[in-house]
This record gives sequence, structure tokens and C-alpha cells, in this order.
Amino acid sequence: MPSTLSLCWLALAAPALALPSHGGPGKDQTGIKPIKKIQLGPRPYWLVDQMEDSPLKTKLQSCSEKEMRPSRWSIGHRGGGTLQFPEETEASIIAGTRMGAGINECDVTFTSDQQLICRHSQCDLHTTTNILTIPSLAAKCTVPFTPYNATTKKSATAKCCTSDFTLEELTQTKGLCAKMDSSDSKATTPEAYKGGVASYRTTLYSGPGTCHKLLTVKEYIAIVDALGLDFTPELKTPEVKMPFGSANYTQEAFAQQLIDEFKLAKINPKRVWPQSFLYDDVLYWLRAEPKFGKQAVLLDESGDAPSTISTATASLTKYAKDGVKIVAPPLQYLVSTVTGKDGTVKVVASEYAKQAKKLGLKVISWSLERSGWLADSTKGGYYYSTIANATAARGEGVVFELLDVLASREVGAIGVFSDWSATVSYYANCFGLFP
Ligand SMILES: *[C@@H]1O[C@H](CO)[C@@H](O)[C@H](O)[C@H]1NC(C)=O
Ligand SMILES: *[C@@H]1O[C@H](CO)[C@@H](O)[C@H](O)[C@H]1NC(C)=O
Ligand SMILES: *[C@@H]1O[C@H](CO)[C@@H](O)[C@H](O)[C@H]1NC(C)=O
Repeated sequence: MPSTLSLCWLALAAPALALPSHGGPGKDQTGIKPIKKIQLGPRPYWLVDQMEDSPLKTKLQSCSEKEMRPSRWSIGHRGGGTLQFPEETEASIIAGTRMGAGINECDVTFTSDQQLICRHSQCDLHTTTNILTIPSLAAKCTVPFTPYNATTKKSATAKCCTSDFTLEELTQTKGLCAKMDSSDSKATTPEAYKGGVASYRTTLYSGPGTCHKLLTVKEYIAIVDALGLDFTPELKTPEVKMPFGSANYTQEAFAQQLIDEFKLAKINPKRVWPQSFLYDDVLYWLRAEPKFGKQAVLLDESGDAPSTISTATASLTKYAKDGVKIVAPPLQYLVSTVTGKDGTVKVVASEYAKQAKKLGLKVISWSLERSGWLADSTKGGYYYSTIANATAARGEGVVFELLDVLASREVGAIGVFSDWSATVSYYANCFGLFP
């Protein structure tokens, strides 16, 4: 069990979150107060129960009665309650915050009038909202709803982009609500198209009589500020050609616009962790907004195929040389397995992780609690693809073995995104990770 004493970066860590100090009098219009009583709910305890006996399990069990605190090691993905609450909403942010997330995410995209709104991608309104059931809006979608065709067996389709609508249409239209990300490819009506929710997710918190509003980036900033947490906005790669709408709305203007929102709200850059998959965005922030660029996070998905992971690892050298400080690959890039003589499969740090460490790059990873079951035929799927042997052998409890390697000296991750913040928060609290 490598992590108990080995977190050398902890010695340099900033003090724990200064909760009440941010949302000063007069500043907050949200009515939201910092959440001091952190509650993790039953899930992390259940996951510990699923583990085979080990020193790590014993250590985790020993933390069961601990008072829990928020930790920046725990990053709310699309909110932090996304496993059960509609993503990119106030409710998901609040749920993640109750479960100890110290940083909360909004994915940032733009509307037809070049305003910023939180959505995981520019063109997911047809699966993350009920927009297709509102005829006045549905008519404006890039690709309108086409029902499933039983003769040709062609799936139902639609494509609705934030850039199809004004900010006012997306935030002021009565009845437009966020929902669990899903679609039913066999749907013959827009109503039925809202189905297809993964069986390990739920519609329990987005039923009739409830409506989760879409969040503007301004609202997201106000909410997370009132909660006293850190921000991690992700500049989403546009799905329309840039410049968009007018000649001066270039990719750089979009990247600058995001930073300007934080400046306008007078947020200390130390609380902001801007992310992008586009290398040029990160280079732009380093050059044009160094205070924000210092904490810019380069998202890396260049090594998804087994044949490309070595190139992804080699590219780290260039990133470090160009001044990038933080890289964020998906979980599976950072780990692999070794099989002992007795057949025991162990989760260990990958070459990618070791190289990042060697170059002095800080690492954040994504995303825990998106995979459903680890012990079914998917073995956890994408995020567990390099440690499928471990999940095949030991199932759900492997999630904590994975976190233990991410926290270890070999990787030294400074934060982990999760769709259900409690699990990462439990680990962070148990091992005293409060970066
Ligand atoms: C299904 O596709 C066929 C072949 O393109 C077409 O003739 C038919 O009208 C479609 N059915 C529906 C219900 O749209
Ligand atoms: C683009 O130009 C218009 C008209 O001069 C101006 O109102 C707008 O703020 C500019 N936008 C950007 C992103 O510079
Ligand atoms: C996974 O297990 C299989 C069969 O036991 C073995 O052949 C393979 O090398 C293992 N893979 C890793 C990455 O350890």
C-alpha cells in the first residue's frame, strides 16, 4: 500500500479550503451558503465492503466514522452528482459539494449570440435536455428529430447545438429542463427519445414537477463562488466552424471570453483551473493570461488506442518544454497491471504516469464513477481498459486500488474527477489529501 506516507507534494499543499471567506457580504446573489457538513452517503462504504482483504481495505475501513471535509483532490465532473442528477446543473454541483468535492466543473460552450453556457458538448441538447419535446425550439435544431424506422432499422436521430439558439432561448424558455444524458435509438416520438437511461443511473431527481435549468457560465461562477469552492471550467472544442457568427469571434476570442467571465466576477485566478483538449487554447492562456495559464489543464486523449499510448507518453516532453504545468489524461493512461507468480493481479503506475512525474508535470485524471459495473462483461469499459484483468478478478472494490495508485508517489495525482464525488472524497479524507 504505497500511499500513506508517500505524498511528497502534500508537504507543499495549500491550506484546506477556506470555506466561508469567499462569498462575502453583498457579493453573493445566489442565496447559496457554503456547505460545511459533508455527507458521503452509503456508496463509498459499500465499495469498501466489496474489496478483498488487504492492508488498503483495513485502512479504508478505519476511516468509516471520520468527520469528512471538502477536498480539492475530489473534483466534481459535470457537477459531481452526475451519476444520479442531470449534469451541468446547480443540483449536480450541490450534490457533488455535499459529497466533499472541492473543485467543481462546468463545460463551457457558446450560444448563437456568442454567450457562454454550461453543457458537456456544444451539440448534446437533444440527449441532455427535453428540447425535442418543445416544438418552437426543436424546429431550430441543426438536425431535427427523425424517428426510428422499423423497415430500414435506422436509429432515431437528432442534433441540437447550443449555437442553434440564443442564450435567452436556452435559459428563459418555459419547460426547457436538463435531464439525465440518454437517448433511445428505437424511439418513434421525441418523448420516447428521452429514454434509454443506463440502468445504473436514474431519473429519480428529474421527474415530473421538477425542472433543472440550464446554467449560464455567469450563474455557474456565482454558485461555486458562493459555495467557496474552486472552479474548473472546460473550454469545449467547438462543433461549428470558427470564427463563428462574426469575423472576430475566433477560437482565441472564445478562450479569452471564458477568462474574462472570471475577471468580471473578480475571482482570484488561484481558484480557477481552466481546461481544454486543444493544445492551442492552453498555449494561448499561458501567453495571454499567465495567472490563469499557470493552472491551465491540458486534457489528453491522444493515447486511447494501445498503438498510440507510447506517442502520447512521448508528447509529454514537448508539453513540459512549452510551459504546460498540468496534464489530464483519462484514468486508464495512468495505470496498468502486473500478474504475480501466484496469479494475483496488481494495479501499478503506467509508463505515462512515470514519465509525467519525471518531467515535473502535475496530473489530474478523469473520470471515476462513469463506468457502471466493473465486474460485468465490460470490466469497467474505457476507463478501466488497462486494468481490466484486475476488475475481472475483483470487481467493484478495484476502484479504491485505482485511487490508491493515483495517489501514490509514482503518480502523485493532484485531483480526480468523479460523477459521484463521495468515493474520491472518502479516499482523500482517509489519506489526508487536502491539496
Ligand atoms: C422508412 O424508410 C423507408 C425507406 O427509406 C421509407 O420508405 C419509409 O417511409 C420510412 N418509414 C417511416 C415511418 O418513416
Ligand atoms: C467583435 O466586434 C463587435 C463589433 O465591433 C464587438 O461588439 C464585439 O465585442 C467584438 N467581439 C469580440 C469577441 O471581440
Ligand atoms: C491479463 O490476463 C491475461 C490472461 O491471464 C494475460 O495473458 C495478460 O497478459 C494480462 N494482461 C495484463 C495487462 O496484465
